[in-house]
Amino acid sequence: MSSPLGKNAVSGPLTERLLAVMDQKNHWAYPHLTRPGLTNAQLLTHFRHEYLVYVRDFPVLLARALGRTPPIDEVRKSLAENLYEEQTGGISKSAPHPELFLRMMEGLGFRREDFADDDAWLHPSARAYRDLLRETSANAPDWQSSVALLTIFVEGSVNERAELAGTYVRARGDDAVTKHPLVVHYGCPSSAMELTRAHAAVEGDHRSDAWKMVLDHTKDDAIGQSVVATCVRALAAWHRYRDGVAERMHLSRDAREGAAA
Ligand SMILES: [Fe+2]
Repeated sequence: MSSPLGKNAVSGPLTERLLAVMDQKNHWAYPHLTRPGLTNAQLLTHFRHEYLVYVRDFPVLLARALGRTPPIDEVRKSLAENLYEEQTGGISKSAPHPELFLRMMEGLGFRREDFADDDAWLHPSARAYRDLLRETSANAPDWQSSVALLTIFVEGSVNERAELAGTYVRARGDDAVTKHPLVVHYGCPSSAMELTRAHAAVEGDHRSDAWKMVLDHTKDDAIGQSVVATCVRALAAWHRYRDGVAERMHLSRDAREGAAA
């Protein structure tokens, strides 16, 4: 299967350095979220953090990065489409993604009020990661770093390398929903999983757009270094954030998870 970016685009040194960062966007506590056994309180701790740290405000973070871009139509168009989908669900014909997230939470039995802003409640490492996202999306040394932070690091996953190589294809539609751990293990009804449907419908295109935007417009070595350094900083802050949430969930790292990480 061929790469969505074509062979040459994914073989440069910048690509490799960014993929090496994404290879590490994996946390020892993740397997807990893909198997049964978590209590409602643990699930709420995880999802409340996710919502308050980046889900609720992701469209605004994208808007900050868009506001920094020079007049390059394809970059502005890609970011605007991403922002439009995140804040309205207009492309996937759904609803704003933060709203879809709350509907998924209601499917798990939580109340919207549980996700009201409560800054004092966040783990300090979660607040630090959120601060980094807010600051860097607006004020990174160059626009490429702001865009890479959001569209490659935050929206991307540990599957990035395989997805670009065309060897990993994310599930779509009902398949993505029926196999989702929240449906399989935690009783979330399929009807509450619109967010998964929306992501499955649009994010394959978003992934290739993200890489194109950054790779096509980062030919200068110094900017490339800045992009990589930004994503490395984000990775470190993200790991501290995930460690903090795992601590709040009272999860401990056992030998099996340590070996798998
Ligand atoms: Fe989204």
